[in-house]
Amino acid sequence: MQVIVTENFTESCKLAAKMIADVVRNKPDARLGLATGGTAEAIYPFLVKEYQEGKLDFSKVSTVNLDEYVGLAPDHPQSYRYFMDHNLFNHVNIDKKNTYVVGGTGDVEKNLVDFRRKIAEKPIDIQLLGIGENGHIGFNEPGSTLKLNAHLENLNESTIKANSRFFNSMDEVPKQAITMGIGDIMSAKRLVLVATGPKKANAVRGLVLGDELDCSNPSTVIKVHPDATVIIDRELADMIGYKAE
Ligand code: GLP
Repeated sequence: MQVIVTENFTESCKLAAKMIADVVRNKPDARLGLATGGTAEAIYPFLVKEYQEGKLDFSKVSTVNLDEYVGLAPDHPQSYRYFMDHNLFNHVNIDKKNTYVVGGTGDVEKNLVDFRRKIAEKPIDIQLLGIGENGHIGFNEPGSTLKLNAHLENLNESTIKANSRFFNSMDEVPKQAITMGIGDIMSAKRLVLVATGPKKANAVRGLVLGDELDCSNPSTVIKVHPDATVIIDRELADMIGYKAE
């Protein structure tokens, strides 16, 4: 696992966007694994900019997203389908038919079957990841075990609290989500995880400095991925006492 320390969060986002853009330039029909959340929201404008400047073509690209809240319809402003449309897909020349965010409403079991089938269709060339304050990736919450395949996850109190900033109140935050499993994430050819801010310090310390796979910090599994890059800014690196070699 490679750790890159940038000058600031904007530089981290630019770098992650460049890594994704380079994959698409080298392989125009690449399959991208995409993420949501405040971190991803800061990365996508750089991909949109590349497209607007004529440096990136999404016409043959396909995407699959990590997760979706249970109970939120695609047109709910906090659903991850809505997030993806509004932060990326509506601003580039991607064919929406080639984008996939698992449904959060209707028959959850059926949605899961559909998600698993979709994941199995084609390998992901690069998977973007954020990290939860508790170390979750996708919505794979800490626990005594981690699930390999796409599944229904009960969200931890700490995740509900952290994500309540996007809702009017904690009560409005869905209590469950459908997420890719750890095995799905690890099957991507490349992983790029971006983290910033003091609230992520504990999880990132375990990821970057720890020497163990720790189910109570699911992000640590990416340590054993053959092509994983973690991008953090100088401020976060200093906070956790990480010194680049
Ligand atoms: C959500 C998503 C994760 C994301 C995390 C961190 O919980 N399911 O995939 O990594 O938020 O989000 P943020 O970047 O907003 O801190």
